[in-house]
Amino acid sequence: MRFDIISVLPGLLESPFAHSILQRAQKKGIAEIHVHNLRDHSTNKHKSVDDYPYGGGSGMVMMIEPFAACIDMLKAERDYDEIIFMTPDGVTLDQGIANQLSTVQNIIILCGHYKGIDQRIRDLYVTRELSIGDYVLSGGELPAAVLVDAVVRLIPGVLSDETSALSDSFQGELLDAPVYTRPADWKGHKVPDILLSGNTPQIEKWRFEQSVERTRQRRPDLLDE
Ligand code: ADE
Repeated sequence: MRFDIISVLPGLLESPFAHSILQRAQKKGIAEIHVHNLRDHSTNKHKSVDDYPYGGGSGMVMMIEPFAACIDMLKAERDYDEIIFMTPDGVTLDQGIANQLSTVQNIIILCGHYKGIDQRIRDLYVTRELSIGDYVLSGGELPAAVLVDAVVRLIPGVLSDETSALSDSFQGELLDAPVYTRPADWKGHKVPDILLSGNTPQIEKWRFEQSVERTRQRRPDLLDE
């Protein structure tokens, strides 16, 4: 699977992709992640990528030409399944969307800044607009990193224990049960006896009950669905 991310701040995206699971997925050749500097595709001599909004108002708007030039360059090389714009007014990313996206081949992600991007980019190029939650960040880079992480870890072969993604909170309709590791007693705070019992069916039953209880307390909306 291949991601092409278009950004004015490519440096912001270096670290998230250079560690842990995302790094491993790239080393294994399961995921390719390319970050493109939008400024390299500016079509004017000042290398600008934004301009004043028509109609007035505060803030700058990202221009259509640099995005169009970069997207057209990429599309000349291969077909893309999705061109995704990260924006707080998009559809909220959830596990179902991450699952869907993990089955496609090539994705372009556009990161916005300033007041927004020229509406024509959204109308003419973008196939999907995604938000990572109801709060406003300074740009689309961190949301893009969140999206790539959520998707890449679902591709078969990325996680060493393939079942671990399947048992994540949200992968079913329930939140995860609490987990513990050694020591069994830390300053009098003990691990629940059942987990030390070796009785696998009883442990599974306990975990399921804990999952239901945690979901009921924290996310009753998930049980309604
Ligand atoms: N850009 C700025 N804030 C964002 C958010 N919450 N989700 C996606 N993209 C964004």
